[in-house]
Amino acid sequence: MKKLGIITTGGDAPGMNAAIRSVVRTAIYNNIEVFGIYEGFKGLFDKKFEKLTSRSVSGIINQGGTILKTKRFYEFKNKEVREICYKNLKQKKIEGLIIIGGDGSAKGAYLLYSEFNFPVVHIPASIDNDVYGTDYTIGFDTAINTAIDAIDKIRDTATSHERTFIIEVMGRESGNLALEIGIVCGAEIVIIPEIEFNIESIVKEIKEEEKKGKKSCIIVLAEGAGKAEDLAKILSKKLPEREIRYTVLGYIQRGGKPTYLTRKLATIFGNKAVELLLKNKYGYMVGIKGEEIVEVPLIDVVSKKKKPNINYLNIIKEMAI
Ligand code: F6P
Repeated sequence: MKKLGIITTGGDAPGMNAAIRSVVRTAIYNNIEVFGIYEGFKGLFDKKFEKLTSRSVSGIINQGGTILKTKRFYEFKNKEVREICYKNLKQKKIEGLIIIGGDGSAKGAYLLYSEFNFPVVHIPASIDNDVYGTDYTIGFDTAINTAIDAIDKIRDTATSHERTFIIEVMGRESGNLALEIGIVCGAEIVIIPEIEFNIESIVKEIKEEEKKGKKSCIIVLAEGAGKAEDLAKILSKKLPEREIRYTVLGYIQRGGKPTYLTRKLATIFGNKAVELLLKNKYGYMVGIKGEEIVEVPLIDVVSKKKKPNINYLNIIKEMAI
């Protein structure tokens, strides 16, 4: 392999830059030229290629976002669009492609690989940690640390005012991020889309918290389970004696300096992805299982669903006594 392309797609995640740096430097170390493709699959369609050098990726290991930019490009669902993307790669004489992104990007990676037999390796990066085949995605740890910082601050004011706070966190249809945040922030209640909830049981739980002498309460709500604003309105009606407030953490969870774990994962995943291409192993995603760095067939990644560890809900309950 002489030339490879690298692309970041879908929602950005802290650590994408550290992964780009790792891919570029591993490739150059192995005498492979690297072309950055700007703006995700859209840039692949629009031929936004640029040669990257070791110096192009200097000083980015500590930066959030992605220097290659990213876009949501729903047109990639059309086969004709993918054909043009494939032709653009061929025209540029790119022999392998490393795609950094979440579960949607893995689907794109799989299509390029399965339809055109193009050598593709995927690196999972998403704050949602909802990609099958890996315990962790790049960016997840940083997003949790951002939420810890925000929720610790909210707890201060919740305690002073003796208020119930609903904090809506990201995660799309997955409760992974909310569960993990709930555990480490000491939330009293966590609501995730994977487990149906009813308002009456939430009301009961809040009343029970009060009986235990807890005047304030933190509820972490995964965005896939509902809107904090709606839940706050309902709870205010059901519990008129309580002061209910809400905060939507939103996009701050996607930005910021990558943490130690995020940078390490990004660097190791980037290195492993190039290694797979060098060994002519295509159609895989790199991942981590326990301590081990693994390669997962993309067909599994796109056809199986990662489930959150719902046992964590019991721990959260026990911790709230
Ligand atoms: O997948 C990452 C994520 O931040 C989700 O948690 C969220 O639902 C979504 O992206 C937001 O998408 P957009 O950037 O298109 O608004």
